[in-house]
Amino acid sequence: MNTSKAPELALFPLTAEVNNQRHLVIGGCDVVDLANEFGTPLYLFDEFTLRHKCREFKDEFCKYYPDTLVIYASKAFLNRALARIFKEEDLGLDVVSGGELSIAHSVDFPLNKVYFHGNNKTPEELNLALDLGVGRIVVDNFYELELLNRLAGEKGISQNILLRLTPGVDPHTHQYTTTGTIESKFGFPLATGQAEEVVTQALSASNLNLLGLHFHLGSPVSDIQPYELAIELVLRFGREMGGKFGFNLSEFGIGGGFAVPYTLDSKVPTIADYARVVTDKLNGLISGLGLSRPRLIIEPGRAIVGQAGVALYKVGAIKEIPGIKKYVCVDGGISDNIRPALYGAKYEALVANKASEAEKEMITIAGKLCESGDILVRDVNLATVHPGDIIAIPVCGAYSIPMASNYDAMPRPAIVMVKESQARLIRRRETYQDLMSLDLI
Ligand SMILES: Cc1ncc(COP(=O)(O)O)c(C=O)c1O
Repeated sequence: MNTSKAPELALFPLTAEVNNQRHLVIGGCDVVDLANEFGTPLYLFDEFTLRHKCREFKDEFCKYYPDTLVIYASKAFLNRALARIFKEEDLGLDVVSGGELSIAHSVDFPLNKVYFHGNNKTPEELNLALDLGVGRIVVDNFYELELLNRLAGEKGISQNILLRLTPGVDPHTHQYTTTGTIESKFGFPLATGQAEEVVTQALSASNLNLLGLHFHLGSPVSDIQPYELAIELVLRFGREMGGKFGFNLSEFGIGGGFAVPYTLDSKVPTIADYARVVTDKLNGLISGLGLSRPRLIIEPGRAIVGQAGVALYKVGAIKEIPGIKKYVCVDGGISDNIRPALYGAKYEALVANKASEAEKEMITIAGKLCESGDILVRDVNLATVHPGDIIAIPVCGAYSIPMASNYDAMPRPAIVMVKESQARLIRRRETYQDLMSLDLI
C-alpha cells in the first residue's frame, strides 16, 4: 500500500498508487487493465479500504465508549459480497426493506444484529422480519406500532424495538437528505408531544419490548454540533420518560450521516473527530444526569463504503464549444450515478491511463443519457483526453449503485472487488437480455 499518496490520489481508496505506465492502480490492480477486461462503466471496490473503515469506526468509538455497536447502513450499498465482509468484520446491519433483509439473510448474517428501519414497512416486510428473527425493529410511526404489535402477537413473539424520534435539529445538509427536523416524514417529533405519547403506547404494547431510542439527523452531516444537540435532547427525554413511566433506556441510536470528502478542497471531520466529540458529549451527559450507560448504536453507511468505491468510464465523444465549454462524454452517467443531478453532488476525476500527467485543461464530464442534467463532473482540471481514455471518479462507493436505474434502457454496470492484485466480479454487468427478462408480450 502507498502510504505517501500523491495529492490527486488523496480521495481514492487507501491502496491507490500510480505504476510506471502512469496508470492508476487500486488494490494492486491496474485499473486500465480492469476496464479492458470487465468493460465500462465499471465500479471497483477496494477490500482493504472497506475493512479498514469498519475497523476504524469500531476502534475509534469503542476507545471512548466500549459498549458501541457499529451497524452498517445498507442503503449506501449492499450486495452479497459486501454483506459477507460486514459479517466477517463483526458489524451489525441497518436495513430498510425486505430486499436488504433478504440479502443479509442469504449470507447467514446474524439477524439478531440487524436493525430494521423505514417509515412505511409493509405488513409483508414486518412479517418477514418477525419470521427471520430480526434483532430490532425501529418503529417510525403510530400505524407501525399498532401493526407490529398485532403481527408479533399473532406469531406469539415479543419483538425488541427502538423508537425513532425527530429531535428537531437541523443538520445543515441538503434538504432531500435532512431527516431530523420536525417536518420530516420520519419519526416521532419530540416537540409535538408525540414522542412521549408513543413511549407510553410502546410500553403498554403487550408484544413489544421497548429497548431504546433512536434518531438520525440526515446525511452527510459535516458539522458535529448537531449531533451534540440531538444527543442532549434525546437523552434528556429518555431520562424524563424513565422518571414518568419507568422506561429504561438500554440502547441509544444516533444514526449515521458521517461525512466524507468528495473534493480535494472539502474539509470534513475524520471518524476519530466524530467519535471523540460524540462520546465526550454522551459520557458527560450520562454522568451529569446520573443515567445508566446505554449501548451506543451508530449507523455509518457513506463513511464505510464511499472512499472504497471508484467508478471507471471510457471517453467517447468530445464536444468543444469554442470559448465556452469542452464536454468530455463518457459511457455512463445518471443511470449509474444520479447524485450530481439529484443533489448537486460534486466529484473530482482523474484520467486513469494518464494518472501522473502534469498538464491539465478544464473540461466538463458529461454522461450519455438523454438529459441535459446528465453531467457527472462540472469544470474539472484533467489531463488532455482522447476517445478511448479511461476516466476514474473517486468516492463513488456510496449511494451511486443503489440508486442506479435502467433509464434509456442502460444496463447497470458490473462491480469488481480488488484485493492484493486480484480482481473478482461481485456483480456481473446487466445484459440487454436482462433488461427484457421481466417483460411479457
Ligand atoms: C436511519 C439511517 N441511518 C443511517 C443512515 C446512513 O447515513 P450515511 O450513509 O450518511 O452514514 C441513513 C441514511 O440516510 C439513515 O436514514
